[in-house]
Amino acid sequence: MNRKVKTVILAAGMGTRMKSEKPKCLHEILGYPMLHYIIEASKKVGCEEICVVIGHKGEMVMEALQDTPGITFVQQKEQLGTGHAVMQASKFIEGEPSDVLVLCGDTPLVQGEVLERLLQVHQMEKNAVTVLSTIVENPTGYGRIVRDAGGNFLYSVEQRDATEAQRKIQEVNSGMYCFQSEALLEALAKIDNQNSQGEYYLPDAVPKIMEAGGRAEAAICEDSAVILGVNDRMQLLEATQIMQKRINRRLMAEGVTLLSMENTYVSPHVRIGRDTVLYPGTFLEGNTHIGEHCVIGPNSRIVDCTIGDHVTIQNSTLLDSTIQDFVNVGPFAYVRPGSVIGPSVKVGDFVEIKNSVIGEGTKISHLTYVGDADVGKNINFGCGTVLVNYDGKEKHRSVIEDHAFIGCNTNLVSPVRVGEGAFIAAGSTITSDVPPDALGIARARQVNKEDWVQKRGKR
Ligand code: UD1
Ligand code: CA
Repeated sequence: MNRKVKTVILAAGMGTRMKSEKPKCLHEILGYPMLHYIIEASKKVGCEEICVVIGHKGEMVMEALQDTPGITFVQQKEQLGTGHAVMQASKFIEGEPSDVLVLCGDTPLVQGEVLERLLQVHQMEKNAVTVLSTIVENPTGYGRIVRDAGGNFLYSVEQRDATEAQRKIQEVNSGMYCFQSEALLEALAKIDNQNSQGEYYLPDAVPKIMEAGGRAEAAICEDSAVILGVNDRMQLLEATQIMQKRINRRLMAEGVTLLSMENTYVSPHVRIGRDTVLYPGTFLEGNTHIGEHCVIGPNSRIVDCTIGDHVTIQNSTLLDSTIQDFVNVGPFAYVRPGSVIGPSVKVGDFVEIKNSVIGEGTKISHLTYVGDADVGKNINFGCGTVLVNYDGKEKHRSVIEDHAFIGCNTNLVSPVRVGEGAFIAAGSTITSDVPPDALGIARARQVNKEDWVQKRGKR
């Protein structure tokens, strides 16, 4: 029977090379902190107990993860090395024997499948420790995997402590491991800081385990990108680009058309239906779901929205809203949080909608602001309509009933109700309710003064 799996994620380091106010593990890739990806990967292998070792600006890390269930935090007050970091999690590791995955907060490209394989090898071979390694073109900065003439894994040596010959080795330590908990705890007690950095290195636990008679192995991961460690902004961009390609490839495999690999940014939890087309400059973020046969972009940003089928969105920004089937949005529209746009609605150019419900078939074609309103079906908004929802102190809500016609350049001063089928004359400033089927007109009558220009004496 397989043992319980626990994960320890090391995220206490300063991340000096990021030159940032934020701890390194909170730097984002396609809208989520790096740490989020590592947690997701460990959850994929069925790991329910996760411990994050925090230190440098640890409060920020705890705050960022406050909505993620099942995380234990431990503090590493001084960053004395990766081995020392794992020691801080001893209490978490103790108890019923388990397999412990040790991962880093700065390797966001690790995937569930890779950890799955690491665990498999570890459990099948009955290893006391399995180091995940990979072969890279340029091993600079990584610990090197040293093997004997027979190819058996001996130990991992840090670049700074490596000999000239060892530095040429292209098999590197990914910084990810699987340990049997008992072996790990025993070895941690034995490691010292006698090395070039004066740190307690986690890789040093490996030879201690072997000395105690435990089996150790380095399992090679074929895809070296998986272990990319992010230490500076350049590597953050590289990791982003790899993640972006992965997600975009998945979308295409699922039946979505993309016009650009580089200029399409889709967050990992976004879902998109078949035959939807993404134009360049599209950003799809958060918990966004898009239906089938939609055309999105160019240059559009959609965050936390649910979008139906056959929807067109051009050059627009949509936040935290629901858009139903056959809607057209944009170009240059702004749909703000709390909006529900009904089926077959048109939200045209330079239209802003905020916290409003728009009924089926309504047309809001140009230059209009609809804020805090309940809008019925088949209404026509003339160009330049404004819902005057804010009196400088409070927001007010208005209701516009089905089939109303709002003339161009109308102000609807909220709260106000426009009855079913009512007609508002162009240029009106409506301050009181308009009954159903009535004409609401609220503007000064036009006066023409004959020959006024000549009398004025100049032309
Ligand atoms: C480490 C490994 C190296 C491996 C590489 C892979 C050691 C000594 N070296 O090097 O063999 O090739 O990862 O990316 O383990 N951390 C703490 N507390 C500390 C020190 C580090 O929590 O006291 C955390 C960091 O926040 C980071 C992770 O551990 O998330 C790795 O530390 P880092 O300093 O980046 O190690 P590397 O030099 O990359
Ligand atoms: Ca690193």
